[in-house]
Amino acid sequence: MSATQAITNVQVESDSTERIVAPGPEHAAEMWRIARDSVTLDLNPSYAYLVYCRDFSSTSRVAVVDGKVVGYVMGHLRPEKPHHLFVWQIAVDESYRGHGLAGRLLDELFGDVAASAEVHTVETTITDDNEASQKLFASFARRWQKAPMTVDPLFEEKHFPDGHDAENLYEIGPIFFLDDELLAEVEQKRERAESLA
Ligand SMILES: CC(C)(COP(=O)(O)OP(=O)(O)OC[C@H]1O[C@@H](n2cnc3c(N)ncnc32)[C@H](O)[C@@H]1OP(=O)(O)O)[C@@H](O)C(=O)NCCC(=O)NCCS
Repeated sequence: MSATQAITNVQVESDSTERIVAPGPEHAAEMWRIARDSVTLDLNPSYAYLVYCRDFSSTSRVAVVDGKVVGYVMGHLRPEKPHHLFVWQIAVDESYRGHGLAGRLLDELFGDVAASAEVHTVETTITDDNEASQKLFASFARRWQKAPMTVDPLFEEKHFPDGHDAENLYEIGPIFFLDDELLAEVEQKRERAESLA
């Protein structure tokens, strides 16, 4: 059973001109440009995007519309916890925001990686002031079987040399692939537990 068959509550919009693909070095410059223009993201050296596109392409995705990169997600499997996908950066060009593109990037990446590498948990870090990112990951957790999401301090201000805000660790999972019957049973039990609480 493939991940897309098993996860029935994920809705991926189709758009004939939008393609979500694993990035190659030819996409790195546009990823760097989107990061730079976002202003909120830490801008890594252009070289870092190139290395990521070579070494972590299978755990990253770019959204391409009419031949142009309009969004990306960069991730890697944590060496110490290979079932955890760490999302380093996700960004969408300003003019393409608010249409579910970041959600689709995350869904496609997680669906593919979970199916091929038995990944069950997504990690990322978010600063307190980045509401869009907090909402994006909360929404992802809801779509994927209402997966549990925990938030804990990770990198404090004092860890940074440059006045960077603290980054909290968001952990979403474990997300297991359940068939429709089991998913319905989990949902029923969850509702019963909530009504008893
Ligand atoms: C965060 C970001 C990637 C979201 O991209 P997007 O394509 O507009 O997001 P989506 O349309 O897929 O929205 C996903 C969810 O987040 C919510 N959301 C997105 N932007 C939001 C905002 N500015 N304020 C509140 N909620 C927001 C959406 O309502 C949606 O929730 P829903 O599924 O419950 O309706 C985009 O704003 C961005 O590139 N920001 C700059 C870079 C950044 O901060 N990246 C995250 C840190 S690595």
